[in-house]
Amino acid sequence: MCYCRDMAWYSLTVDLPEDDSEVAQSILYDHGASGLEVRDSQNQTVLSVRAPNKGEAILIAYFEDKADASAAQDELKEKYTAARFAIEDVVERDWSVEWRNQIKSVTVGRLWVGPPWEKPTAPKDKVCLFIEPKMAFGTGDHPTTSLCLGAVDEFMAAHPTASVLDVGTGTGVLAFAAKKLGATRCIGIDNDTTSVELAKECMQENGLTGIELSTKTLHGIDGTFDLVLANILANTLIELAPLIAPKVKQRLVLAGVLVPQADDVKAAFAKHGLTHLRDATIGEWIRIEFERR
Ligand SMILES: C[S@@+](CC[C@H](N)C(=O)[O-])C[C@H]1O[C@@H](n2cnc3c(N)ncnc32)[C@H](O)[C@@H]1O
Repeated sequence: MCYCRDMAWYSLTVDLPEDDSEVAQSILYDHGASGLEVRDSQNQTVLSVRAPNKGEAILIAYFEDKADASAAQDELKEKYTAARFAIEDVVERDWSVEWRNQIKSVTVGRLWVGPPWEKPTAPKDKVCLFIEPKMAFGTGDHPTTSLCLGAVDEFMAAHPTASVLDVGTGTGVLAFAAKKLGATRCIGIDNDTTSVELAKECMQENGLTGIELSTKTLHGIDGTFDLVLANILANTLIELAPLIAPKVKQRLVLAGVLVPQADDVKAAFAKHGLTHLRDATIGEWIRIEFERR
């Protein structure tokens, strides 16, 4: 991430069959690409960006010189007739300022989640969390996070001293919400070191203590939890099902799943002794809840 202001770059985006991706990447580098982003079946796409079509990859190459981007496009066009191309100007902005414009506060049940600079106007009658995401996911305004916040609010209202495990904690937003609503044992884990560092900063900024935040895997977490939350992508949830399910004492809340992926996710968790309770959706995103009966 570059913090320099308004520096011009050019991006060449190529959608092409995944089998052609590796050779195309070397062609892009041969033409002077300074950086390359690859989205394919091996590299999970984050929730907020465009994913490749089935069987395809998306390559996004960054060039300092537009002529290099055009030359790379010309060579690739000739070689891969089915590929699709776009060259765009990329103006790198000061993201510390951009974030301020992009983060929206949300109110979900008793919870309000917003950026720290909205502290003065935060509602007095809500349980407020102040989250600046920096490089981690989870400000509250993404549909998947909002869906989970709703489930946290509801579960904690009925079980105000519940133990809570948040798998894929990101900024820590869901764990913080649970703690603020009374959770006793409260753990957030994430396989991304930067997210965990930022979540720790965020915990302090919110005046919270007693939440264990770490990069531990599920193997390293002892015991079971009244409420287990996991807002991760569908394929990761399916992979982790044998490890997540045994951690559930009472309720499991899954998100990060698109509506058409829901049946596969449900099947993966039903295999591990959990009973499907209900679903909720916002747009294309679905929250799936399970119970241990
Ligand atoms: C969509 S974000 C959710 C963040 C936050 N819990 C929320 O609801 O907004 C998913 C998080 O899961 C983490 N993650 C992805 N795969 C993981 C894994 N195998 N184990 C633990 N965390 C994982 C990512 O690093 C990311 O921070």
